[in-house]
Amino acid sequence: KLFPVILSGGSGTRLWPLSRKSYPKQFAPLIGDRTLFQEAALRFAGEEAGMAAPIIVTNADFRFVVTEQLAAVGIDPGAVLIEPEPRNTAPAVLVAAFYLMARDPDAVMLVAPSDHAIPDRAAFLDAVTRGMEAVSRGRIVTFGITPDRPETGYGYLELETAPSPDGAASDLLRFVEKPGAAAARDMLASGKFLWNAGIFLARAADMVEAFRKHAPDVMAPVSAALKNATADLGFLRLAPGDYAKAPSISVDYAVMEKAGNLAVVPFSAGWSDLGGWDAVWREQGPDGDGVATSGPAEAIDCRDSLLRAETDGQVLVGIGLDNIIAVAMPDAVLVAPKDRAQDVKLAVARLKAHE
Ligand code: GDD
Ligand code: MG
Repeated sequence: KLFPVILSGGSGTRLWPLSRKSYPKQFAPLIGDRTLFQEAALRFAGEEAGMAAPIIVTNADFRFVVTEQLAAVGIDPGAVLIEPEPRNTAPAVLVAAFYLMARDPDAVMLVAPSDHAIPDRAAFLDAVTRGMEAVSRGRIVTFGITPDRPETGYGYLELETAPSPDGAASDLLRFVEKPGAAAARDMLASGKFLWNAGIFLARAADMVEAFRKHAPDVMAPVSAALKNATADLGFLRLAPGDYAKAPSISVDYAVMEKAGNLAVVPFSAGWSDLGGWDAVWREQGPDGDGVATSGPAEAIDCRDSLLRAETDGQVLVGIGLDNIIAVAMPDAVLVAPKDRAQDVKLAVARLKAHE
């Protein structure tokens, strides 16, 4: 049986001021009416997906947002695992793997982040199906996106040869998480790398085994946190004392960079990590001048800019802007050059009052 595991405990600081500590980007309607978290859950729901109810791993602060947003789209979670504090994705993935293994020794998990846009659901489900053969050979399957810029915020997947678009899974030579700028440029130029979509498909037992080999220090605290968990209002609360002892590290660094049994399914049907305002601008579909607006916003003579107003009627007007991001909320306004979108997290660090 295939279990979606949706990670939704991140804080998404680069999309401030829309994304807040108490209400991060995955729970805000970023593009369209539904939130990214709802989109992620819907991607795996329905008969045609052939998957079990989703396992959600999230932070204590977001537990009610999670259940409300699932209910609003008619999804019943299989389980909601609550982290007492965020410890990044390695402990979150491992706790889901332990949880599933205890229920079904043959469980297959599809670990999915909740901060992505994947418009073509059928194509994605097809890619998952193509990955299952590699899973049956004990592989941890990643999904590879054709890179179009030397992005340093992603993982890179090295293939033996240039990938055939949407082909079957092939084994990976190497996984490089968040390279420096020079390495990213080289990898892009070589034509042998794909971006890691951040989605992983594996037997829960194989995932646990990969942790045992490559990140053994995560095992004991996470296993204890699950063993000592308490059930409460339909949530499974991991034991705080134990979970706090887990190292705070991402699954990419802890396991994927080290594992020798990775495979990749190329995926070319459209994928975007909405990791910053530049990505939202791109995904929103700028017009011929490269301008994207939403809410009561007017762009006059602007180019390559995003103007977004969520202000209850207060109008945002830009004149002659070039390469600018302007996001207005009732209590905060962000204005920055588009190519500094990644630096928004610096603002959040300073503005504790508006986080
Ligand atoms: N439950 C839980 N707990 N979820 C978390 C936590 C946590 O402590 N930290 C992050 N998440 C969730 C986020 O909400 C997001 O949905 C997902 O896990 C991925 O975390 P990010 O922090 O957004 O990772 P990233 O974008 O820097 O990098 C990953 O994704 C890239 C593609 O978007 C990596 O897998 C890269 O290799 C990949 O290219
Ligand atoms: Mg991300």
